[in-house]
Amino acid sequence: MSLLRIEDAGQLRQRLHDWRGDGERIALVPTMGNLHAGHLALVEQARRHCQRVVTSIFVNPTQFGPNEDFSSYPRTLEADLQALAGHGCDVAFVPGLATLYPFGPAQAHRLSPPLLADVLCGRHRPGHFDGVAGVVARLFNLVQPTLAVFGEKDFQQLRIIERMTVDMAYDIEIARAPICREPDGLALSSRNRYLDAGQRRCAPRLHDTLLALSRSWHEGADAAAISQAGERMLATAGFVVDYVEVRHEDDLQLAQDRARPARIFAAARLGGTRLIDNLALVASQEWRAGH
Ligand code: PAF
Repeated sequence: MSLLRIEDAGQLRQRLHDWRGDGERIALVPTMGNLHAGHLALVEQARRHCQRVVTSIFVNPTQFGPNEDFSSYPRTLEADLQALAGHGCDVAFVPGLATLYPFGPAQAHRLSPPLLADVLCGRHRPGHFDGVAGVVARLFNLVQPTLAVFGEKDFQQLRIIERMTVDMAYDIEIARAPICREPDGLALSSRNRYLDAGQRRCAPRLHDTLLALSRSWHEGADAAAISQAGERMLATAGFVVDYVEVRHEDDLQLAQDRARPARIFAAARLGGTRLIDNLALVASQEWRAGH
């Protein structure tokens, strides 16, 4: 079947109602468009689990701060639709502002995710995760998918949505998708296109730094030492650092217990471009076995 482009909530509901009536499972892949191979991998993952895939494309104003890149965020709808058509997506849901915010973004009901949103990017981008949770909840309500796929690059976002799904009693399975990287290690992101040639050459140092820090972690350095070393390494490479932190995967608290799953998280800027990345720290015994 060819890709359907749907803007209207009523038309979307009707189409999904028919598919559900035929016993088909529906997956949702929420995006802000400007699709790259990382997004398309989410679509493919969704396709493997469900008969129908809906990809939403909406640059959500409520998750951008006043000095952030909402107006300049890349909008490439025609190319996105072509890419989705080639990757087995059934519906591109492209809602207008009034579909998701009938009373306007300023008058919208707000969702404030507790705790998990207070650290990492939440500390540096106040209100960002309220905006993310609010728009994802609206998309969940409109699409009512069986499954929704989110990438691990935005790991804090993923954890907030996993928790929101339980807390708000959504009957939706959240699937995690691994980070897609360029051959030199740079995590795929729509914002990579803002990098000039020099910044692009420097950008993979973010991932290199996380790899080096993961070795230090396994050699016994604690979370505070990793943080300091990471900030120093990135600053030396030319980044302006927001944070480098080792936190547990479940509650995003600073990592203290090496037996619990943890990740190194980093956010840093090259010029006006903010890059984020993270790396899972495998349990120490597993790491020793592999080295
Ligand atoms: O990860 C993103 O692209 C956005 O935060 C999301 C989940 C589509 C909500 O706008």
